Amino acid sequence: MPSISINDLQFAARFEGITGSAIREIFKLIAQPGMISFAGGNPSAAMLEDALIADIARDVLLRDGKRILQYGGTEGWPALREQVSAFLAGLGVAAAPEAILPTTGSTQGLDLLLKALVNPGDTVLAENPSFLGAFQAMRLYPARIVPVATDADGVIPEALEEAIRAHRPKLIYLIPTFQNPTGVTLTLERRKAVAALAAKYGVPLSEDDPYRDLRYRGEALPPIHSFDDSGFVVYLISFSKLIAPGMRVGAVTAPPALLRKLTIGKQSADTHMDQLAQAIVAEYLARGLLPGHLETLRSLYGAQLSRMLAHLDGMGLAHTVPEGGLFIWAKLPEGMDALQVLEKAVERRVAFVPGTHFYADGGHPEAFRLNFSNSSLEQIDQGMAALAETLRG
Ligand SMILES: Cc1ncc(COP(=O)(O)O)c(C=O)c1O
Repeated sequence: MPSISINDLQFAARFEGITGSAIREIFKLIAQPGMISFAGGNPSAAMLEDALIADIARDVLLRDGKRILQYGGTEGWPALREQVSAFLAGLGVAAAPEAILPTTGSTQGLDLLLKALVNPGDTVLAENPSFLGAFQAMRLYPARIVPVATDADGVIPEALEEAIRAHRPKLIYLIPTFQNPTGVTLTLERRKAVAALAAKYGVPLSEDDPYRDLRYRGEALPPIHSFDDSGFVVYLISFSKLIAPGMRVGAVTAPPALLRKLTIGKQSADTHMDQLAQAIVAEYLARGLLPGHLETLRSLYGAQLSRMLAHLDGMGLAHTVPEGGLFIWAKLPEGMDALQVLEKAVERRVAFVPGTHFYADGGHPEAFRLNFSNSSLEQIDQGMAALAETLRG
């Protein structure tokens, strides 16, 4: 018998103060029947094309099954790299297939970048507020997260430059389009400015852009990457919100020396991505299915966004007005705390994510994030009515 209990096991210092994603905890809370969830960032179940994906899976396996089911290269499934290269070209991101590394969601793209660049205690700059999943990845290295001021036009370049000078960061992490959590989009001028800053100071900038194609209004803006010829802007894409998150297909594009480090880092993480998932996404893109599916997504989510915005206006709450993406960022009336309101809201069968989790330094109790993609118009009506009742007390 060991003399020490398993409950006394000493874990690595990198886990100190890390509690797991707040959203995952909220998921447990809301896994009750009849709950309307404006938490999470799930696509609508109606938009997950299970029968079509089953057909494609069968087709690719019958055509290429022996290769798909065998070990493959860490560099990724060649057909997927080609398709991603063509997809990126359409966005203005020039990347040859050899410059693309398929990753297990864009989550792994960020994790590999951190692994390649960050020593314990190094600084990463991120928008304030930013995606809490990214914070969790950063904290495990452990990076010091320095939040950079944002406004209705995204991250403020002057604040970013000041932070670069003051903190000499190893990485800048930005979500320029329909940001998580705010839904805000970085303006064209600022995209140029931040690309120039990455080049001027020689700091890699990870452009995490999973929502770009979910635009319901207004004109698309070129990625930050398209304004960069220094190689310091690294583009992360994900098919999670566009096709299906459960397949976990994303990709990162980077210059050769950095891509090599990401590839070596990936070898020890998972050898390579699931080849069936890669082959399915490659085939989905090769068949030209994405544009039509995006049209369907845009019309559904666009209507859901408008409905939720109308409810927020009716309730008199301050909120962002995103032109796309999956989230609205809102504020409770002065003096209210979203953590407390969530507890009461859950009793009325509606949930959201308190905003404090998205601030690297906490605080901001009045802020909260609402997701509209995963609820029907009826559920939005019902859930927002329940939220309004909760606020009336
Ligand atoms: C900004 C951002 N990056 C990355 C992810 C994770 O995406 P993936 O499923 O590709 O890992 C999300 C998911 O919510 C996100 O909002």
